[in-house]
Amino acid sequence: MKTSFAHAALGTAALAVSVACGLAFGPLALAAPPGAAVTADLPAWAYPVAPPGLPEPDPAKVVHVPGSDRQYTEQQILARFSPPDWFPNEHPAMPPVVADGIKPTIFACAVCHLPSGAGHPESSSLWGLPAGYFVRQMADYAAGKHTGPRKVLMTKIAQAISADDSRAAAEYYAGLKATPGYMKVVEQAVVPKSEVGEGNMRFVVANGGTEPLGQRIIELPQNEQAARDHNLHIGFIAYVPPGSIAKGERLASGGGGKTVACAICHGPELQGHLGEVPSIAGRDAIFIVRQLMDFQYGRRDGSWASLHGQIGAKLDTDDIIALAAFVASSKP
Ligand code: HEC
Ligand code: HEC
Repeated sequence: MKTSFAHAALGTAALAVSVACGLAFGPLALAAPPGAAVTADLPAWAYPVAPPGLPEPDPAKVVHVPGSDRQYTEQQILARFSPPDWFPNEHPAMPPVVADGIKPTIFACAVCHLPSGAGHPESSSLWGLPAGYFVRQMADYAAGKHTGPRKVLMTKIAQAISADDSRAAAEYYAGLKATPGYMKVVEQAVVPKSEVGEGNMRFVVANGGTEPLGQRIIELPQNEQAARDHNLHIGFIAYVPPGSIAKGERLASGGGGKTVACAICHGPELQGHLGEVPSIAGRDAIFIVRQLMDFQYGRRDGSWASLHGQIGAKLDTDDIIALAAFVASSKP
């Protein structure tokens, strides 16, 4: 399969790509028309939501993280405006909208996506996204093309942000790279029992023992204190069912006829290569699951997204888990 076709084709209509690649989407398209009001399955493990009644952050408790000479209170760590910047020397100067936000609606991007763009499992990584792709996502959010759980806040932010600030954020994150070792993928049948806690992240239940993973992906912090402190040096472990990485690799290469090779558009190493098509290698595992499910069920329905509903129409939850395991474990 040639991967050198003009990426301009992607700009006009996603389907032009399928023609350019000689792919036939007809039969796939029948399975689940993108945008249709299908009763979507929203597995709780992929769309984590914290229960109500969690303790408030302590305004008096001072937090330090190893290697940083800064200190913040627990409350400052979760502040919506001007959140912590533990390692200011490790990234270029952040544009004001990323570092501080703009009151009252535009929360600082760094609260959830972090100054490094590494993000948390419940949000998304932003490092290295092509700026054109990034601003298009913001426009899609503003136009209400991203629906479903926890898209409301990003939609409000995208509706309030100016074109200049959106572009500034996009260019800032486009220049960043993945944090090495942030996303670890481990095949394991039995995992520590965990529950969703602050920041919609999962934490191990103290003395909770273990439980079978089953057909899920469970993501836990590599270090719980680091996750609570938004220490962006230390990331997450995605526990995936045994055998899923190899199965995902077969699916991602188009094997089995269930989908088409991801590399056609996402690049030979899935690190991106076609203008505004995002790199997906090494991004967060449950984020990838959510995107594939959101495309499939029309909850992500932007101008360039419709194609994905067709690409993914035949994939069941196990296939999506396997693809996410493989893609997240690939070198970013
Ligand atoms: C309160 C948390 C929060 C804040 C603050 C926030 N985001 Fe997001 N962002 C999210 C979530 C949640 C998603 C969607 C994750 C998903 O699809 O499952 C997201 C997704 C995105 C995406 C899509 C990424 C992709 O790979 O498709 C972009 C771009 C983005 N945000 C930009 C921004 C910018 C710019 C700001 C600051 C102006 C910002 N975000 C502030 C939580 C946040
Ligand atoms: C024909 C081209 C094409 C193929 C083939 C393709 N993708 Fe995509 N993919 C795209 C485009 C374009 C986008 C951006 C869509 C948008 O702008 O909303 C995208 C976005 C994504 C995203 C969301 C990334 C983000 O940061 O939000 C994921 C995850 C993804 N693709 C996974 C896959 C996987 C896995 C495969 C293989 C099974 C695949 N894609 C095959 C073109 C393609």
